[in-house]
Amino acid sequence: PFSIQIEMGKVIVTGGTGYIGSHTVVELQQAGYEVLIIDNLSNSNVEVLNGIEAITRIRPQFENLDCLDYVGLDRLLSKNEGVEAIIHFAASKAVGESVEKPLLYYRNNLVSLMNLLELMPLHGIKNIVFSSSCTVYGQPDKLPVSETAPIKPALSPYGNTKQICEEIIRDTLHANAGLRSILLRYFNPIGAHPSALIGELPNGVPNNLVPFVTQTAIGLRKQLSVFGDDYNTPDGSCIRDYINVVDLAKAHVVAMKRMIEQKSKTRLETFNLGTGRGLSVLELLKIFQEVNQVEVPYKIVNRRDGDIEQVWANPDKANNVLGWKAQETVEDTLKSAWKWEKHLAEKRK
Ligand code: WQD
Repeated sequence: PFSIQIEMGKVIVTGGTGYIGSHTVVELQQAGYEVLIIDNLSNSNVEVLNGIEAITRIRPQFENLDCLDYVGLDRLLSKNEGVEAIIHFAASKAVGESVEKPLLYYRNNLVSLMNLLELMPLHGIKNIVFSSSCTVYGQPDKLPVSETAPIKPALSPYGNTKQICEEIIRDTLHANAGLRSILLRYFNPIGAHPSALIGELPNGVPNNLVPFVTQTAIGLRKQLSVFGDDYNTPDGSCIRDYINVVDLAKAHVVAMKRMIEQKSKTRLETFNLGTGRGLSVLELLKIFQEVNQVEVPYKIVNRRDGDIEQVWANPDKANNVLGWKAQETVEDTLKSAWKWEKHLAEKRK
């Protein structure tokens, strides 16, 4: 058997060794794109490149570079002509840490984006996909929440950087008619590649629910703390829209193609990336234990500061305009998360 490799364009993925970034690099390569990863490895491991290569049989080009380094970026872009788009994942993302170190978050997240936007026209790059978040909606007045819902005051510096970055992009596109951008508002990405060759690598004690659940199931943590069971929801725990990370990655390929092919009338578009289904913490925990046949000890504790009670996406716009839809079931996604945790445990032996 043989396959014909159709030559596609070159794409830059900042934060390409991170959780969502690495899954997106895989999908881009499988769609035929040539990928250049820019990552400073501040919250990821260079060995992720081996995982990507094991899945796709292609090792992406990698540059250990901080997006705060304007001169370094300028040099790198000079050496790489013909880049069709940038997918910009590189950012600091821990909500709690952002409260402790606001300036670190504002500098990292805002200046990285500003550097890229400033350099794009100088190097003939027209398109940028930006990683935004459902956090911009705060607690929405109407559920499911659609893209036209108002932006609410941010509850953390991290959340605020996502809002400000969206505005920086809007204003920059207004002033530069040669640029296009798609803002992707992620709901809660979970799971891992079905191969278990790449997945999430949380640094220290996980803040996010699913990594904490898998680490508890494998015995790295004693028990899960469920943050509150007295919310105004059917079982009292918070509700989120958990989206499979591979599904999420695929949306980036579609969004990027849409810009490259100039399919849209407007140069700036925003899409929710979610399943449209809300799941409570306790429901997720129950499904995880059932599909994986594993016990997860847990206790109910106080609410976590700054948590939204319930949010889930109206994904109609992404479904209809992008032609993208979340495919994986939450059952399979939670199986993939567990398979990945077991893979990590094997490697530790
Ligand atoms: C999900 C639910 C918790 C841990 C945050 C950011 C968002 C995005 C993803 C970045 C909540 C509950 C969690 C635990 C628990 N950013 N929970 N015990 O808070 O929806 O979103 O991360 O990367 O912008 O705000 O995600 O996974 O932290 O929490 O009960 O140990 O699980 O209260 O209801 P969240 P999460």
